[in-house]
Amino acid sequence: MTTETQPKTAKLTIGDREIDLDLIHGTEGEIGLDIRKLRAQANVIAYDPGFANTGSCRSEITFLDGEKGILRYRGYPIEQLAEHSSFLEVAWLLIKGELPTKERLAEFEHEIKYHTMLKESLKGFFTSLPRMGHPMAICAAAVGGLSTFYQDVKYDDPEDKRWAAVIRLLAKFPTIAAYAYKHSLRLPFMYPRNDLGYTENILHLLYANPCEEYAPDPVIAKALDLLLILHADHEQNCSTSTVRMVGSSHANLFASVSAGISALWGPLHGGANQKVIEMLISIHEGGKTAQQFMEMAKDKKSNTRLMGFGHRVYKNHDPRARILQQACDDVLNRLGIHNPLLEIAKELEGIALSDDYFIERKLYPNVDFYSGIIYQALGIPVDMFTVFFSMGRLPGWIAQWLEFHRDEDARISRPRQIYTGATERDYVPAHKR
Ligand code: CMC
Repeated sequence: MTTETQPKTAKLTIGDREIDLDLIHGTEGEIGLDIRKLRAQANVIAYDPGFANTGSCRSEITFLDGEKGILRYRGYPIEQLAEHSSFLEVAWLLIKGELPTKERLAEFEHEIKYHTMLKESLKGFFTSLPRMGHPMAICAAAVGGLSTFYQDVKYDDPEDKRWAAVIRLLAKFPTIAAYAYKHSLRLPFMYPRNDLGYTENILHLLYANPCEEYAPDPVIAKALDLLLILHADHEQNCSTSTVRMVGSSHANLFASVSAGISALWGPLHGGANQKVIEMLISIHEGGKTAQQFMEMAKDKKSNTRLMGFGHRVYKNHDPRARILQQACDDVLNRLGIHNPLLEIAKELEGIALSDDYFIERKLYPNVDFYSGIIYQALGIPVDMFTVFFSMGRLPGWIAQWLEFHRDEDARISRPRQIYTGATERDYVPAHKR
């Protein structure tokens, strides 16, 4: 359909009234019904719990077709980026909209490298928290806390000041994540190393100790880079919508991303990667067969779900899961690891893909199904899986936050509701109740 032949309006009939509503067309054929004036025109609002059928913005960042299993960042297929790009190049692409030149990428990497250190006083923040505290809680608090050090970053700062916040966030988050981890083991914090690349430095921060030289394993660094690329953006998911929503009140970037980290932590969102590995371990150690577990996952009364399966948008294979399944085999082979959990995962997937329950509901493996097995092979502790998801998602959150602030249609997020509570009634004093 050409632009000229695309319908421009839709008619909505409410009782005996007919209302014309504008249609908004995306570049990939998506059509949105513009209901902004609906309440003023007809005293009617849209009801859409979980916003499953609501477009909250126009966005040029990520395209996702859940029916066809397509994911593209700024038009580039995720498969191509996974094969040829690097995490920082993808970060630039998402944030700036185009692939960087070689020189610009080198400058970007340099800028990030020279902002990785944390203020020394922040170390006291980590050590003051319980050792067993979940690192996602620590990361959310520390990222929010960055705005106490960089108080000049407001939503309406000119681009260069915002850029400083972007660089600081991308640069300091791995250090924050590693400090959360080191504190959990009561190990000394490591300073970042400027002679290392972004992912190598993450490994150094996590695994080095002050007594010895540490050389990051290039196979592990490459696999980590791939994981970060695959997680870098996923349009208007729960945590990204949270970042936009908090940002819509004109809260600063650090505060908005801190809220995004909290949203990502939940087991139905980024926290699923931790839950997948716990589920596989429980099957492995609990003497339950994959088939028995699947029966429980189908039984609503059991309150069990096949974690790492299903997606709000993908009703076909999640392309990230396909890439990760292959990467899982490659990484385990190259590291010479035999992991029985991978066998269990493949068995579960095999059962699910031929089981009517999962077929009818279009439930396929999502990004979290295989990522945990790779994280485990890379030596990353289970508690840190979702932290790595956040690390990967940072460029997406930043790009979406910046896009929101450039959007002429952007307003403070303030959904409405259909009130179903008591109608007006008189207060009854306590002695008469
Ligand atoms: N295991 C068993 N049944 C499931 C599963 C699952 N993993 N996922 C969905 N269903 C069933 C669900 O019970 C419902 O059945 P019925 O129609 O009979 O009531 C139907 O499938 C639709 O599920 P829903 O919960 O209405 O779908 P949703 O779009 O609201 O939820 C989801 C999507 C991802 C939260 C859900 O599929 C789920 O809980 N999956 C497991 C957790 C998980 O892996 N989350 C990671 C998501 S991908 C990474 C990310 O975005 O963070």
